[in-house]
Amino acid sequence: MNRKRVLSGMRPTGKSHLGHLHGIFENWRALQDTYECFYFAADWHALTSEYKHPEIVGETIWEMFADMLSAGIGVGDQAGYLFIQSQVKEHAELFLLLSMITPLGWLERNPTHKEQIRELKEKDIRTYGFLGYPVLQAADIVIYKAHYVPVGKDQLPHLEITREIARRFNFLYGKEVLIPPEALLTEAASLGGVDGRKMSKSYDNAIFLADTPEEIKQKIASMVTDTRRARKSDPGEPEECNLFPFHKIYSPQDLQDQIAEECRKATIGCVQCKKFLMKNLIEGLAPIQERRAYYLSRLNEVKEIVNAGTRKAREVARETMGEVRDALGF
Ligand code: TRP
Ligand code: SF4
Repeated sequence: MNRKRVLSGMRPTGKSHLGHLHGIFENWRALQDTYECFYFAADWHALTSEYKHPEIVGETIWEMFADMLSAGIGVGDQAGYLFIQSQVKEHAELFLLLSMITPLGWLERNPTHKEQIRELKEKDIRTYGFLGYPVLQAADIVIYKAHYVPVGKDQLPHLEITREIARRFNFLYGKEVLIPPEALLTEAASLGGVDGRKMSKSYDNAIFLADTPEEIKQKIASMVTDTRRARKSDPGEPEECNLFPFHKIYSPQDLQDQIAEECRKATIGCVQCKKFLMKNLIEGLAPIQERRAYYLSRLNEVKEIVNAGTRKAREVARETMGEVRDALGF
């Protein structure tokens, strides 16, 4: 049976948090049941913004793979392949070839590019490499002939550029070599951080997979809740509270119902509500944290899994590159 192929990548630029776990990793894990999955560390992409601190990649990449494995990615009989972008040099060759055919306008108009130039002012990303970010991403995807790419909304412009580049290649060289991929939009509601904004390392508001129970308690204690509840006697609305999405993940249904009702009647206080969450979140996260500790203490095992995945990725990438060179007559 030939399963359709899924591919996605993540830049190794920092520690994983609950936003990654519930927004990305759980989705990636589930896709393994249906598709042949390739998941990789986009270390070259990490350099587009972190070129002044390349050591960040080395410091975070193995921990990131340990996080993925502990979330069930790359394990089991239908396991996806884990690999490292820079270990499959064919990505670079295809990136170069696709650069030749990508009109500058597509890159200059890219809304994600414009936004990042604005937001990451301090990082000096007005570089050739950063402008070409979507071209490298296109190479990552089409080299595996991936049908589907699970990504968040922010990545849709990049996916659209990938589709356009694939079509342009096929059109210019008269062969259907590259497959324009489809995005699989990640459904999971994004989790708010401690301060109520989107959970993100750069906002310093994240709960990390690496956090100890004590750190988790402190973070939950400091979480903002529904502003209606200035006093304990003021009723609140759990659906508009930053805390409640965590209960939906970590607390049993009957407790969720009870909290929702009592919050609206102001018969439970936020402090008590947080105590329930502390217990349930710490317990719910424990199995993943145990597996994480296991992998981190056996990095050789992690490296073997990634090496095997990289070998498989190379095989596929080499095959596609053969077809690409043929289409060009090189
Ligand atoms: N740009 C993606 C992100 O920041 C990472 C990425 C690089 C990627 N290459 C990819 C995602 C290919 C999907 C497919 O999240
Ligand atoms: Fe949020 Fe719970 Fe407080 Fe309601 S009781 S506002 S759900 S923290």
